[in-house]
Amino acid sequence: MAALKLENPWKANPWFESVAVAQERARKRLPTPVYDALVAGSERGQTIAENEAAFARIGFAPHVAGHQAERSMSTSVLGCDISLPVIISPTGVQAVHPDGEVAVARAAAARGTVMGLSNFASKSVEEVTATGANTFFQMYWTGDRDVMVHRMQRAHAAGAKALIATLDWSFSMGRDWGSPEIPEKVDLKAALRMAPKVVTKVRWLKGFAKAGYIPDLTAPNLAPADGGPAPTFFGAYYEWMTTPPPSWEDVAWVCEQWKQLTAADGGKPFMLKGVARVDDARRAVGAGVDAISVSNHGGNNLDGTPATIRLLEPIADAVGGEIEVLLDGGVRRGSDVVKALALGARAVMIGRAYLWGLGANGQAGVENVLDILRGGIDSALLGMGLSSIDQLVPELLLVPDDFAVDATRNSARA
Ligand SMILES: Cc1cc2nc3c(=O)[nH]c(=O)nc-3n(C[C@H](O)[C@H](O)[C@H](O)COP(=O)(O)O)c2cc1C
Repeated sequence: MAALKLENPWKANPWFESVAVAQERARKRLPTPVYDALVAGSERGQTIAENEAAFARIGFAPHVAGHQAERSMSTSVLGCDISLPVIISPTGVQAVHPDGEVAVARAAAARGTVMGLSNFASKSVEEVTATGANTFFQMYWTGDRDVMVHRMQRAHAAGAKALIATLDWSFSMGRDWGSPEIPEKVDLKAALRMAPKVVTKVRWLKGFAKAGYIPDLTAPNLAPADGGPAPTFFGAYYEWMTTPPPSWEDVAWVCEQWKQLTAADGGKPFMLKGVARVDDARRAVGAGVDAISVSNHGGNNLDGTPATIRLLEPIADAVGGEIEVLLDGGVRRGSDVVKALALGARAVMIGRAYLWGLGANGQAGVENVLDILRGGIDSALLGMGLSSIDQLVPELLLVPDDFAVDATRNSARA
């Protein structure tokens, strides 16, 4: 009788059990500059590290019995029903996977959540909404007003369900660990120069070979109204850098424009992303927004901004009764989501977590990440004896006394 050959079932199994494992797979699979572009961060990397670390300072005190057999985590964000309180935060994905944002959108739709699409995305808003995913289109403050109106019109016509304006960018880019090289265009010259970092990543290359093209670093959603070619990533960045920064009147203007041009659909909702202070949250309400995301751009922006989870409760207390308050930054597990909801968030947005999933295993990897978060949320609800995310309140958490930061009060004292 032939000897039974025991195979390690995990070896060929692309499923991963945590976001950390997805990150490690993505690191191994992607060319170093591509992986480093996802890690991102800025300056000394303080904020990116604190976003994640701060969640670990909050604890739970679970019950031993009296748990609930049925637990619900469905909710809605800006009028879209979602099956878990997690949505996809917009990221300029670059060359992680041939299907890029289309794969992420399919995963979002398959798992019953919302796709946030960056205006620096590698896929057009039309391709992404064609997946059937509820899509929120994200815009930076870049270009003149006619250009911005054209971009909003295009997103609306493509079926975007809401607009996210991300305004916290301060172009603070230098990194102590050095930034990855991003070529202006992936032509033969750039391909040869980068070849040593890329040729060893056979599985990643095979994905693009199968799709029949090389990574494209243009920004199709920033193409001009006259039908001209889409700018390269650097062309788009130049436009952004040379646009005068927005005032609060500009915030009200962009919100109003979006409401007007979507009036026939009842005035689609508008989110301001990047709020890190109570006074800004109040101004956002005054500017007419429907939602904010308490965000520091995942630590990619001004380094030294506190972890968003520490900023959340004072902001949610101030404006949570008037608008929807979301949080993004450092969410890597379901228990992080539960902590954010208990401190006042309606839902969270994830960035790197799904990028690691996409890099590790394409659409299935993003679905895998959403499943991990769903499982973690459910475990936390079970342990705390809750039957719904609606029951989450701060008193359920063990939070250190010095945890919450009201950046408005601190800077007023300074
Ligand atoms: C590689 C990368 C690209 C990003 N690009 C954008 C973008 O184009 N627009 C935007 O609003 N935010 C962008 N963000 C920020 C995310 O939307 C989100 O705020 C952040 O990733 C949340 O932190 P997390 O990665 O720890 O989840 C980007 C983040 C990363 C990591």
